[in-house]
Amino acid sequence: MKKIIIDCDPGHDDMMAIMLAYASSDAVELLGITTVAGNQTGEKTFLNALKVLTLLKAENLPVARGFDRPLTRELTIAPEIHGVSGLDGANLPEPGINGIEEHAVDFIIRTLMQAAEPLILIPTGPLTNIGVALLKEPRIKKNIERIVLMGGAVYDSNITPAAEFNIYVDPEAATIVFESGLPITMVGLDVTNKAMLTFEDISEIEKLAGPVSSVVAPLLRFFAQANCDIFNFQGAPLHDALAVAAVIRPGIVKTSHLHVAVETAGKFTRGRTVTDVYGILNLEPNVDVALEVDVPRFKEMMIGAIRELDKR
Ligand code: RIB
Ligand code: CA
Repeated sequence: MKKIIIDCDPGHDDMMAIMLAYASSDAVELLGITTVAGNQTGEKTFLNALKVLTLLKAENLPVARGFDRPLTRELTIAPEIHGVSGLDGANLPEPGINGIEEHAVDFIIRTLMQAAEPLILIPTGPLTNIGVALLKEPRIKKNIERIVLMGGAVYDSNITPAAEFNIYVDPEAATIVFESGLPITMVGLDVTNKAMLTFEDISEIEKLAGPVSSVVAPLLRFFAQANCDIFNFQGAPLHDALAVAAVIRPGIVKTSHLHVAVETAGKFTRGRTVTDVYGILNLEPNVDVALEVDVPRFKEMMIGAIRELDKR
């Protein structure tokens, strides 16, 4: 059984990542959720995580709030994609849980230091919490099996023509992670933009008319429409859920072991995950970069998870 911690900035696709993990209790044990500022402020992403777990009746899962801003940069949020609340599109229940007092970084460190076996970290937002945890307590590395992160891209971009949002928001924290020497899988836009539920898929989810699906469908429709308006996507790219799917079923993505560096000094290229696809730099590869995805299998996993959660 793979034991995981999800560090996230809910966010519609973060919500789907949490749902997929929570529904897949036969494959992964979700030890806790930590939140970080990104799609919305730290206050809102924390509140959204509590609301999602309330919807899932997962009141026993610890939720720890993390940083409200990047290491050095001003915070960039994404209301154009996720709305003012960070989860616009439907009325989620008011939180039935409070979360824990412990800071996200301390929760990550304590959980890792106490772990009987190495854990997998799944960051799906800016890497501020993860970067600080590695700086504050480097000994946690021995208990990190792998970091499977949603972020970056080899050829694609979103927040600027050069960068992906999670890496762009905190490129310094991303540098700490990418240079940590830990096993890293980068699930970037090259594959996550393909991991999409179409408007037709969303209508099928709506027809399930269950306690979870009836809330998820309008949320996904909001997210899909925002992505359609900005990127002309014909659906909801479930970026973060693919990172979770890649832990549950590693074969769902095909990766290449490449050298990746994060741009922190570029005027136009801040946050670019500069990927040496041809090995030109002759530098030691440090990241397993996802380049292909089994989209039908991913969609099957997502729809199956929603059906499972409707039954609980
Ligand atoms: O670029 C997509 C990523 O940025 C996703 O994790 C989304 O939730 C936002 O955090
Ligand atoms: Ca996210």
